[in-house]
Amino acid sequence: MCGIVGYVGPGSTLDVLLGGLKRLEYRGYDSAGISVIDPDLGLQTRKRAGKLQVLVDYLNESPLEDAHIGIGHTRWATHGAPTDGNAHPHLGGDGLKLSLIHNGIIENFSELKAELLAQGVNFSSETDSEVAAHLVARAYDETKDLKAAFVSVVNRLHGAFTLLCIHEDYQDLILAARRNSPLVIGLGDNENFLGSDVAAFVEHTKRAVSVGQDQIVELRSDSVKISTFHGESVELDEFTVDWDATSASKGGWPSFMAKEIADQPQAVGDTLMGRLDSDGRVKLDEFAGLEKLSEVTRIIITACGTAAYAGEVAKYAIEKWAKIPVSVELAHEFRYRDPVIDENTLILAISQSGETMDTLMAIRYAKEQGAKVLSICNTQGATLARESDATIYTHAGPEVAVASTKAFTAQITAGLLVALSLGWLRKALPEAQLTDLGKELLKLPRQVKNVLESLDRMRNLGREYSHAKSVLFLGRNVGYPIAMEGALKLKELAYIHAEGFAAGELKHGPIALIEAGQPVIVVVPSPKGEDSLHPKVISNIQEIKARGAKVIAIAEAGDQLVAQFADEVFSIPASHPMMAAVLSVIPLQTFALELASAKGLDVDQPRNLAKSVTVE
Ligand code: M6R
Repeated sequence: MCGIVGYVGPGSTLDVLLGGLKRLEYRGYDSAGISVIDPDLGLQTRKRAGKLQVLVDYLNESPLEDAHIGIGHTRWATHGAPTDGNAHPHLGGDGLKLSLIHNGIIENFSELKAELLAQGVNFSSETDSEVAAHLVARAYDETKDLKAAFVSVVNRLHGAFTLLCIHEDYQDLILAARRNSPLVIGLGDNENFLGSDVAAFVEHTKRAVSVGQDQIVELRSDSVKISTFHGESVELDEFTVDWDATSASKGGWPSFMAKEIADQPQAVGDTLMGRLDSDGRVKLDEFAGLEKLSEVTRIIITACGTAAYAGEVAKYAIEKWAKIPVSVELAHEFRYRDPVIDENTLILAISQSGETMDTLMAIRYAKEQGAKVLSICNTQGATLARESDATIYTHAGPEVAVASTKAFTAQITAGLLVALSLGWLRKALPEAQLTDLGKELLKLPRQVKNVLESLDRMRNLGREYSHAKSVLFLGRNVGYPIAMEGALKLKELAYIHAEGFAAGELKHGPIALIEAGQPVIVVVPSPKGEDSLHPKVISNIQEIKARGAKVIAIAEAGDQLVAQFADEVFSIPASHPMMAAVLSVIPLQTFALELASAKGLDVDQPRNLAKSVTVE
């Protein structure tokens, strides 16, 4: 939640800050602000409630001279409503010469605020963040050493924070601190950058440095220093960003979400690339980071939201192909119920951002209990990757729309690779079967492309159902998490009641929801194979049809039976049942996108949400 960006160098600070905020807006979009240090006028700040465009319009009315140092913030409110006053930056000190931005929650802010109020400090916001601005400014007034003041305050704060701070007396220094919230440095030529993630500066540099837990950054135009909160210096851990700057732009699409749905053949293909040879043999070099993998007795997959649904699909594949028991745990529930874990437990954490606080807390807890952590992550330099024993990157590229689409299908793809790789390692299935599965996986990018080419009817259906008050989703086996993902997409984007059910659960309660005209989207398994659940799902369709439901079926091409019972059938290419998870979610993403667009809603930035949930 909240995006932060900082820049020091000879370029246009305003361009870097506003461009960076634009690319970070997915992290929060209820207010935005910037501060720059004008060589003549000193510290200058502009901030406004509303989306970034409101700030841009305000800057047109009340312009700033460009400068060579500045910080910017886009907010997702935690403490205090989205108002101009609560927008960041927050100012402090005599003459308000210090500016500070914050991402996270300062948990002990009440006692710190009481202390400051007792000293006569006036507050101009209801935020927890403003206390940090006043504390640093007051410490600086005493010491006249900005870094010493900043470090002393950071050591008093509890909770989660990335802080960026500038002061009029220092025209070439940004101080930053990081605990439990993300921060990445961008290295330029005589210029340097800070951002919540690499998207903030990838347009300007691909050289990046990740910042570790409890570390302080001193960023100048020609130098970067990192030290711990206790003053020990830290070596820079540089990496090259493999995201293409243009992939973080809409590229002519009406929304990022539409573009990201269309990006899926590439996201899936890039995630497979180099990991499967043409004979269907899988090789995950990343496993080298995990000792004693063959001794693992069970796997716990932990994640939140859409990533957890990708984990559910991975569970089916790992159990079937590698014969290892798997459970999937929502990270926020897992962490707080004293789960039983030992050194033979492998934790598989899944996260697009790699910064979801609940997921990070879950892996930290599991590591304390001796478990090894493998992660599936989309963002280089993310905290999850830093803290995992091994990371498999999904190469989906930057995902900007708040609703996850291409990251989800890439996560499923990576989960299938993990399952197959474990199958090889454990010799859980005959080689021929494993290579056949690998060959099926290789077909996936092409099949995804085929689905994308046939979405017109689904788009129309989304528009036709734009007045629906509720849509239900049913599925079995891997179709079950896909049904839940379809429902989540619709809740997030269209703000209507949507629920996904395991089709087998229908008669245990949910069928009571069915009345005349109730739209139900059913993910139908392939009719092929002896153990196919197809006949059971066809029976479920008949049961709900008998009670008046309008059924839209997502079914394998050539499925004759389903057409007899469903009102509409959307066909996906014939594929292995496990890979069908990837194919069948695409029409559901499209349905939600079109339905929400028809209602005139902002599909990239749905209300109340932020893409990275970096607080608990
Ligand atoms: O960055 P993560 O993958 O850890 O995010 C997890 C969830 O917050 C995320 O998938 C969320 O559910 C999406 N908005 C769903 O579209």
